[in-house]
Amino acid sequence: MPHISSQEKPSTVNRLSPARLATSLFATSFATRPSVAVSAPGRVNLIGEHTDYNGGPVLPVAISRRTAVAAQAADRWVFVSATDDVVHEVDIEAPMRQEWIDYLVGVVRELRALRAAPPGAKIAVATNLPIGAGLSSSAALTVSAAKAVSLLAGKRLSPAALAEVAFRAEYHQVGVRCGRMDQTIAAHGERGSALLFETATGTLHPVPLPGRLWIMETGVSHRLTGGALNDRRRECEEALAFCREWRPGLSHLAQLRKEDLPEVGRRLPPPLVPRVRHVVTETGRTRRAAEVLAAGDLASLGRLLVEGHESLRLDYESTIPEADLLVESAVEHGAYGARLTGAGWGGAVVLLAPAEREARIVAEVGSAFQQRFGRMPVTWSTRASRGVRRETIAE
Ligand code: GLA
Repeated sequence: MPHISSQEKPSTVNRLSPARLATSLFATSFATRPSVAVSAPGRVNLIGEHTDYNGGPVLPVAISRRTAVAAQAADRWVFVSATDDVVHEVDIEAPMRQEWIDYLVGVVRELRALRAAPPGAKIAVATNLPIGAGLSSSAALTVSAAKAVSLLAGKRLSPAALAEVAFRAEYHQVGVRCGRMDQTIAAHGERGSALLFETATGTLHPVPLPGRLWIMETGVSHRLTGGALNDRRRECEEALAFCREWRPGLSHLAQLRKEDLPEVGRRLPPPLVPRVRHVVTETGRTRRAAEVLAAGDLASLGRLLVEGHESLRLDYESTIPEADLLVESAVEHGAYGARLTGAGWGGAVVLLAPAEREARIVAEVGSAFQQRFGRMPVTWSTRASRGVRRETIAE
């Protein structure tokens, strides 16, 4: 097996798209060409954090960095990824291993339940998404794999069906108690638009997002499985159970209004009160953010991002000092706004700045970060891109 770790790849290989990289990894690993290649994007969530599993709205954007899957039907399941150098032959029914492979196993199990999987497949995976940076590399993998594997079985699943397979793979098979935001944007993303996704009703509204978003990575990695996200979700479920004692019809926390918060404060155990406050205020901010973005009012959008970050810092307690500093410094240096994006406890900050000053602002924020933490944050920009797509297999 050739060793193709991300560190050792020569720069010419690094510049290849994930789809080309997955295709060439497939060819070198299996000495044949794939019959299908698919890619799906990572995402940055503009706002609407921890609302998706509480029935609220989210406003994610599909980014230009993607994960690609190259595949061919076979009589067994064999997986290889550009980030490790091992060819894994996998028993789909065996217990999960706590590795990236689990996500593929989850997808295969869910597709089998729909009779949309072949008996086996060879699969090569490559990505240019940072892993553990809160940009949803897992949904990029599950959504692209769901499309590639179902195509091998001759099935054309809709974006909604792909998102559902990917969600079930992560939630029911891998055991991450996520909501549906990441899989939905990876499947439905549109070039040039953010997507307002009302999770209670399933409605999707594209909202034009011209210009660039900046991503500043904190360099602190988070692992979702079994982590703080699962704990917060449990707290939200407990809070909902308490709220139902006085509001029996309540189906999710995002249905509460700001006017209900004093009653929440009187009735719930104190540690749960700020969690509910975050969900309720974030729900309002997210709908407002979609409105101001649609009106092209980036200054107001920026202020909402910063308020959202403060709510995560004080009420949801999911930020880290590295992200707090990036946001504070972004505001100080004239960005419209910034906030920690994704689950939190690590990951990346999304920053929105006036186009003519953005390069200077991110440079200044980077030096402030370096002064405090002794290293430069990895920083890059992205535009709103397309969701999952079939790729042509290059010669
Ligand atoms: C993770 C989950 C999402 C969402 C965010 C927090 O990314 O996968 O479903 O809950 O955290 O907004």
